[in-house]
Amino acid sequence: NILVIGCGGAGLRAAIEAKLNGLQVTVLGKRNKNDAHTVLAAGGINAAFGNVDPEDNWEHHFIDTYLEGYGLGDPEQIEIMTKESPFYVKEIDQWGADFKKLENNKFDQRYFGAHKFRRTCYSGDYTGQSILNALLRKTKLLNIPIYDSEYVSDLFVKNNICFGAMSLNIFTGERTAHLADAVIICTGGHTRIWKNSSSRKNENTGDGYHLGLKAGCELSDMEMVQFHPTGMVLPKELSGTLVTEAVRGEGGILLNSQGQRFMANYDSKRLELSTRDRVAMANYNEIIEGRGTDNGGVFLDISHKSKDFIIEKIPKIYRQFMEHSLIDISKNPMEVCPTAHYSMGGIKVNPSDHSTRIKGLFAAGEVASGLHGANRLGGNSLAEILIFGSHSGKSASKFSKSLSSQMRSNKIISLAHEYLNSSISKGEENVYLLKSELRDIMWKYCGVIRNEINLNKGLEKLNQLEKLLPAIDVRLENNNQNDLINKLDLHSSLVTAKVTILSALERKESRGSHQRSDFKETKDDYKLNINAKIEDNKFIIKKSIPKKMKNELISLLERYERAEEGANKLIE
Ligand code: FUM
Repeated sequence: NILVIGCGGAGLRAAIEAKLNGLQVTVLGKRNKNDAHTVLAAGGINAAFGNVDPEDNWEHHFIDTYLEGYGLGDPEQIEIMTKESPFYVKEIDQWGADFKKLENNKFDQRYFGAHKFRRTCYSGDYTGQSILNALLRKTKLLNIPIYDSEYVSDLFVKNNICFGAMSLNIFTGERTAHLADAVIICTGGHTRIWKNSSSRKNENTGDGYHLGLKAGCELSDMEMVQFHPTGMVLPKELSGTLVTEAVRGEGGILLNSQGQRFMANYDSKRLELSTRDRVAMANYNEIIEGRGTDNGGVFLDISHKSKDFIIEKIPKIYRQFMEHSLIDISKNPMEVCPTAHYSMGGIKVNPSDHSTRIKGLFAAGEVASGLHGANRLGGNSLAEILIFGSHSGKSASKFSKSLSSQMRSNKIISLAHEYLNSSISKGEENVYLLKSELRDIMWKYCGVIRNEINLNKGLEKLNQLEKLLPAIDVRLENNNQNDLINKLDLHSSLVTAKVTILSALERKESRGSHQRSDFKETKDDYKLNINAKIEDNKFIIKKSIPKKMKNELISLLERYERAEEGANKLIE
C-alpha cells in the first residue's frame, strides 16, 4: 500500500496513479481538500499544442523553460514535462477540468510571461481550482480515501528505508501510525514563511522539507524562491494575495506613480510579459526608488479592456477586487507588489521516477526540486503536479510490488510519539507571535534582494527564535490542538528558513530569483546546485555540478542560439 502526504494536485494525481496500478492508497492532508494551494495557480497550465500559434512545439517549451531557469533546471525533468504535458492536459480536461476551447474545439491558449508562444491552456482565472475539482471527482470515483485533517509529524525511516508516517488529527489530537510500503511527499513549498505571501494561513509552511530532512533526504536550491510580481497591497490583512499573471497575459500593463509604463526600462521587448523574476525586480525597484504608490505598490491596469472581456477572461480577479477593495478593475487600476509565491528548490529527486535517496520515499510537486532552476515560468507548475504526481505514483507502485518483505520498527514509531510528547508543555512564549516574527525576519533579511550582512543578521535572529521553541505555551485543554499544530509548523518553518538563508549565503552571485546586492553578476562558476542536508544535527551545505545534458538537447539549444543570432543580425 501507498501513503500520500498532501492533498493538493500532485498528491491527488499520485494517489490516482497508484490506485490505477492496483495498489491500496491513502491520502493525508492538513487543510481542506477542496481548497489546496493548487487553486492559486490560477492563470493556466502550459502544453505546447500549437493551437493558437502553430509554430509552437515541445522543443520551444523546453528551450523557454531551460533558458529562463538560468540553466539550473534539470534537463531530463524539463524534457519529460514539455513532452508529456499535452497528454496530461487532455486527460484532466476529460476528467472534467473544462478548459476554454476555441471554435474548432481545441484548447484556447493564452500568453504567459516569457513564453515565446501562446501555450497556456486555461479555465478563466481559476485553472488550478478546476484541475483540483477534476482530480477530486476522479479520486471519489476510484474510492480513494482522503483524510484532510491529519497533520504528519514524522516519517518512519530505518536503515534508509521509509515504511510510513505518524499523523495527528488536527481536531481531536488522535495519533495514527500509518504503515506503508512507500510514501509520497506532496506537501507543497515554504513561501508562507515570508510576510508577503500568496499562501494562506497554515499552508506552505515548509513541513515537507522538514520531514524530508529528518528522514535523511537532501534539499537542493532552497534559496530559489519565486516572488510573484503581483500580489494585492490592500486590504492589509490580505496583502500578498495573488493577482494572477493572466491579467498581464490578457493585456494588463504596469505603471508607476508617475504614470510611466516602467517595464520598458527593464525588458523593452517583452515588457509586462518578461520573466517573473525580472517583473518582480522591476516592481520592487520602482517601489524602493520612490516611484511606487502611497501604499507601497505599483499600478496594474487593465481598465483599457471592456468589462465584458475582463469578466470573461479574469472573473475571479474582478470579483476579488470588488469584494475586498471595492474597486471595479474595469474602471480603475489595481495596486500590486511582489509576493512570495513558489519554492523552486526542494527535495532532491531522481528526474524521471521522483524517488529520493531514501528507499520507498518519493516526492512530487512544489516540494521536489529540479524542474524550474532559478526561475519558474508561470503555468509550468500545474503541468508539473499532474505529470510528476503521476510518475511518482507509478514508481511508488512499482517499488511496492517489488518488495518481498516490509520494514517495521516499534522503536522508530516510539520516537515519533516522543517528538509529539516533547512538543507539549506550558511556557511563556506565544506561538502566533513567533510565527509572525519569523515571517518578518524572512521578508526583511532574505527577501527580494539579499546581501551577506542581512542574511547573517537573519540567521542570527532565526537562531534566537529557535531558542524560544521549548518555551512555547502548548495547552491541549478545551479540545484544542491549535497550539501544538502551530508549534510543529513553526519548527518546520524555522528549519526551512535556516536552510534557505544558508543556501542563499552560499550562492555568491545573482541568478534569477536569487538577487544579491553584493554580488550583482551571474557567474559561470555558479551554474551549480546548492544542496543541504542534516548530519549529526548540523546543516551541511554543498555545491554540486548539474548533470550533463544529453547530446540531442545540447544540439537543440545550439540550433536555437544560431537561429536567434541570425534573427538579431537581420534586425540590426
Ligand atoms: O499568476 C498565476 O496565475 C500563477 C500561475 C502559476 O504560478 O503558475
